[in-house]
Amino acid sequence: MTRKPSTLTSHLGRDPAHHYGAVSTPVYRVSTILMPDLKTLEEGTAPYVYGRRGTPTSESFANAINELEHGALTVVTPSGLAAITTAILAVCRAGDHLLVSDSAYFPTRNFCDRVLARYGVETTYFDPCSGAEIETHFRSNTRAVFCEAPGSLTFEMQDIPAIAEVAHRRGASVLMDNTWATPLYFQPLEHGVDLSIQSVTKYIGGHSDLMMGYVCATASHAERLKHTHGDLGQFASADDIFLALRGLRTLARRLPVHEQTGLELARWFAARPEVARVLHPGLESDPGHRIWKRDFRGACGLFAVELKGVSHAGLAAFMDGLELFGMGWSWGGFESLVTPAHIVRTARPWPASATVVRVHAGLEDAQDLIADLTQGFERMARAG
Ligand SMILES: Cc1ncc(COP(=O)(O)O)c(C=O)c1O
Repeated sequence: MTRKPSTLTSHLGRDPAHHYGAVSTPVYRVSTILMPDLKTLEEGTAPYVYGRRGTPTSESFANAINELEHGALTVVTPSGLAAITTAILAVCRAGDHLLVSDSAYFPTRNFCDRVLARYGVETTYFDPCSGAEIETHFRSNTRAVFCEAPGSLTFEMQDIPAIAEVAHRRGASVLMDNTWATPLYFQPLEHGVDLSIQSVTKYIGGHSDLMMGYVCATASHAERLKHTHGDLGQFASADDIFLALRGLRTLARRLPVHEQTGLELARWFAARPEVARVLHPGLESDPGHRIWKRDFRGACGLFAVELKGVSHAGLAAFMDGLELFGMGWSWGGFESLVTPAHIVRTARPWPASATVVRVHAGLEDAQDLIADLTQGFERMARAG
């Protein structure tokens, strides 16, 4: 029987019979785990051996994600960025060449340019609207392709199945930061990705009160992910894993609200005279819409708006007086946010003069949000 996402997120990973009937797997705060005898200690056959190598709480979360993503192994990390770096290190070694989408989350670029480069891995950035044409960037030593669709800040779509076909034919792995869609709206491993990456900090956490990430691997990539994760000493706090599991339980009910409010705001922005264009693959007019519609089951509440020739004072007047939108660097929580987008591109130039504002639609009422934004545009007009 194929069950629907809300049924899955309500039930996956739970095992009350092993926790005195507790509905949610409790927080196991543990470092040392005592072994029953020397034989078990020497053979390492206990179900849990050390706090950093897995606990019933982390296992509960990992089991749920493996089922949602149809993966063979899920590991948890202390942040989404740690999940990105762990996944890259699991596949690359000195002398390799890595292809990264030009619109990848900026700290991903920093890791490639500042850390990987020191260890002899060279990175080339590719057009974030790429599909099979990515093959022109392949070299004999290209080890992996790192995708993020839609991309950070500018929301371009890549054709993931086409990229995966090229990469696998050329003997390379495909990694994807799937934080925008979450495993409910896009299933990377079903579309040819080998390592699916998620910042749990965002929608799975959902309440802006935890930092965590995960990487979920296909069977062919499970061993190298397991060893790299262990060798780097990666894990996540017991409390954060517990909160992530709690967030997961309501994800399938929260995401459609973020999606609907996000689309309502996006369409409202698109009709405003102050707006040059809206960057949201869920809009029919967006260049990435066809691929989004073909491969994704939905959109989250994050998109961007390019404003027409606004001064810095005008932008400040718009943003500073907003009552319902906070200004902050994350997203995926229940609250709405706006942040100016600082866009750095090397493969596909982005006009330096464009003023782009990233918008996160939270769980507030859409009309209340629109009223707040309307007042913002009125302040902007007064500021000139
Ligand atoms: C697309 C994307 N991936 C990864 C991350 C990193 O996640 P974390 O903040 O949990 O390290 C972020 C954070 O903003 C993000 O926007």
